[in-house]
Amino acid sequence: MKSNSHFHGKVIWITGASSGIGEEMSYQFSKLGAQLIISARNEGKLRRVNAQLPRNPGSAKVHPLDLENLTELPDKVKMAISYFGRVDILVNNAGLAVRDFVGNTSLEIDLKLMNINYLGPITLSKLLLPQFKIQGNGQLVVISSLSGKYGVPKLAAYAAPKHALHGFYESLRSELVDSGIGISLIIPGIIQTEITAHAVLGQGENYGKVETAFKNAYPVEKAVRKIIVAIQQGKEEFYVGGAEGFTLWLNRFSPWLLRRFIRNHPLKKLRVIKKRFGF
Ligand SMILES: NC(=O)c1ccc[n+]([C@@H]2O[C@H](COP(=O)([O-])OP(=O)(O)OC[C@H]3O[C@@H](n4cnc5c(N)ncnc54)[C@H](OP(=O)(O)O)[C@@H]3O)[C@@H](O)[C@H]2O)c1
Repeated sequence: MKSNSHFHGKVIWITGASSGIGEEMSYQFSKLGAQLIISARNEGKLRRVNAQLPRNPGSAKVHPLDLENLTELPDKVKMAISYFGRVDILVNNAGLAVRDFVGNTSLEIDLKLMNINYLGPITLSKLLLPQFKIQGNGQLVVISSLSGKYGVPKLAAYAAPKHALHGFYESLRSELVDSGIGISLIIPGIIQTEITAHAVLGQGENYGKVETAFKNAYPVEKAVRKIIVAIQQGKEEFYVGGAEGFTLWLNRFSPWLLRRFIRNHPLKKLRVIKKRFGF
């Protein structure tokens, strides 16, 4: 990807930049000449990403934060604005997944996921909005999930905050008409990252496995290339991923059929369908 006038010089703040989609986004936005602020909890990993930026290695502002700790976020936002005097795009990408049944999941884990995947991102957005208003423009990018559109077994604590993101940002978008501030909700399918290895079980233990479906999933480089085009085009909602995207279509046109499809773990069924129809 070559330097592209749309992102050249833009200040882009990416959360969850220490691995997976956010890490790849940091590399691709760097190639496009953006000025980066990169956040996650693990400062060491952020420094590694910063050192590996393809254009001007070490040029990003490493800005560690913990989205679970909502009280630290106002200072973190002030500091982020102070680095370059503005923020043009906030990519709310950081997230934590869960793999457990509702009956096995403690309320602490529900709260943890709600903080990291919903309250943290909306807090950053709310605190940045006054700055966007001063600038007269800005873009909030939100990395949601298919779990933001429907629920499947063992993902309730993850699906709830992802659904909440849609309710919040769709309402906010309707308040921001003609403000110059855009909102892009990105819905990844199954993307090749280690998200399931980082996931938690219902009592907080680390899940620790990269599931087979994620090993052979949609390549993260390709997903990020498409996400960046969607951001540039100001898409309001954008799906990126493989054939599992058909579930969005099914959810819209026959939610009844989708519910039958997902009664058991849908990834197993998806593998059978992929084998049968050869995609
Ligand atoms: N991969 C997929 O198939 C897929 C599908 C749908 C949606 N998504 C969404 O895409 C986003 C990125 O996921 P990924 O696949 O790239 O997973 P990942 O590799 O596990 O990346 C998650 C990122 O979030 C950060 N993070 C986790 N907890 C945090 C906290 N409390 N505060 C700040 N940062 C935190 C992690 O860094 P630290 O551990 O250093 O904090 C890491 O950088 C997530 O929102 C996820 O829900 C992914």
